[in-house]
Amino acid sequence: MEKQDMSFPVEHLINQATIARKNAYTPYSHFPVGAAVLTTTGEVYTGCNIENSSYGATCCAERVALFKAVSQGHRDIWGIAVVAGSQEPVPPCGICRQVMIELAPQAVVAMANLEGKREVRTVAELLPSPFGGGFL
Ligand code: THU
Repeated sequence: MEKQDMSFPVEHLINQATIARKNAYTPYSHFPVGAAVLTTTGEVYTGCNIENSSYGATCCAERVALFKAVSQGHRDIWGIAVVAGSQEPVPPCGICRQVMIELAPQAVVAMANLEGKREVRTVAELLPSPFGGGFL
């Protein structure tokens, strides 16, 4: 099923991210996050955060999922869901927003918590005035 044939399946993507969250490796923050990326051709790639004792080597769930999609050859990302057990729907960090603007500039981002609270924005809304390759 491709983008032109269907509306953005927010709930399905959030469900996939919620399942992926169970694989999070978070011995330091104890803050598991799950993500799911949907390509315009209908493939889903999931991710979770993977932490490291050298904290800077930690990778967020969104980047794991996006890098999986891109490494499988996908350049057209329709949407990204991110789920955490936070009080409010979890917003992507600044590094993930920069990665999203590079690899998924047209994407919709669905943020959710475990209680069913949702917020949907575009990548462009989440990162106004971005740095991009055009400046180089
Ligand atoms: N984290 C994510 O995976 N995604 C977000 O959107 C926010 C933060 C992770 C990074 C780290 O493993 C933990 O959450 C606490 O910052």
